[in-house]
Amino acid sequence: MINAKKIREDFPILKRKVYGKPLVYLDNAATTQKPVQVIQAMNYYYENYNSNVHRAVHKLSQEATVEYDEAHEKVAKFIAATGMEEVIFTKNTTESLNLAANSLSQQLKKGDEIVLTQMEHHSNIVPWQQAAKRTGAKLRFLEIDGNGELKLQHNSATSGMCNRTSSDLQLPQLMSKKTKIVAFTHVSNVLGTINPAKEIIAAAKEAGAITVLDAAQSVPHMPVDVKKLDCDFMAFSAHKMLGPTGIGVLYGKQELLEKMEPLLYGGDMISEVSFQDAKWNELPWKFEAGTPNVAGAVGLTAAVDYLEGIGVENIHEHEKMLTKMAMEKLRQIDELTIYGPEAARRGGLVSFNINGIHPHDVSAMLDAEGIAVRGGHHCAMPLAKLLGITGTARASFYLYNTQEEIEKLAEALETAAAKMKKMAARTA
Ligand code: ALA
Repeated sequence: MINAKKIREDFPILKRKVYGKPLVYLDNAATTQKPVQVIQAMNYYYENYNSNVHRAVHKLSQEATVEYDEAHEKVAKFIAATGMEEVIFTKNTTESLNLAANSLSQQLKKGDEIVLTQMEHHSNIVPWQQAAKRTGAKLRFLEIDGNGELKLQHNSATSGMCNRTSSDLQLPQLMSKKTKIVAFTHVSNVLGTINPAKEIIAAAKEAGAITVLDAAQSVPHMPVDVKKLDCDFMAFSAHKMLGPTGIGVLYGKQELLEKMEPLLYGGDMISEVSFQDAKWNELPWKFEAGTPNVAGAVGLTAAVDYLEGIGVENIHEHEKMLTKMAMEKLRQIDELTIYGPEAARRGGLVSFNINGIHPHDVSAMLDAEGIAVRGGHHCAMPLAKLLGITGTARASFYLYNTQEEIEKLAEALETAAAKMKKMAARTA
């Protein structure tokens, strides 16, 4: 098991106070804090071998190029990709999903269908909406049930739209020959739901569709193996996994990336240019136009090293323990509504509302106690509308959070709920 107290020593920011109180950082689904190992690796780069990559023969450029290229290899191993050819560095998950949507939409035509889910983040809805508008393709949505889980019926018989032959998931009325792309989140950033990615991907494949996995909330928190999942594309961000902002990843199967057109054109993504035309560079550089985020890649390497040193499976177990504890404690507060499935079927986050208080006010009350959570629609407005709410407050956990911090969260929420009850009684 993880020793969170010891891990915290590596994170300078966790020593700071907010309004005179120790910081309790529970906004890890938005971004995570950085260990000294990441900060120092990036400082070392800037102080010792800051240089552009793939362009010059001087020593600094050689060193930076080796580090930058190896960062791709490091990430490839972390997610079990075949090699660096399958790992494209982008700005963040959003850019990765835009790249996938833009390039894949070139194969779409009127009448084709893109299947998403009702629990997607805007970054996995809006790019597909635009792709649909450009091509005449149609968006369809896998629905969620009252627990915040996808309505996927298990069916052991050989039947259904996908002509399944094993005990796969039935995706009623959604998958058909028209389905060309299935894009969905691995773990919901609002509900915490862990979706059965392997099964959904298998069903999509039977329909002949390409699969795109938004893994922004899974890769940092649990072992994710692209080979075992068999996904075609997968997107995630460094800043949600202890790394810096400004660098993200699009994983893609090599044979599919070879066929895809780039999103950005310019330096480094070409092999040859004439006045009238150009040929593309080999993978992954074909998709990385312009001077890349070298410092970001160095930081991402250090972040992956750190996570591997702790063990992602251990991080997952630690978060499961914190989530279970948080849900048990929060459930005891009558005025509080929790969204999403049971602790056993969710990632390390809990979204909730206190009846009668706007989530921003709940967040502000917690902030006054030094507790950082996010309040709002969490960039998933269609989901909030579906749930009939303006948003939620959300506490999200990571490897450095402790049981004491969950206690503090629960105590602060109990106080907020009691205040609210008193005010309601006075005005009644
Ligand atoms: N997607 C991030 C979140 O859920 C920003 O907060």
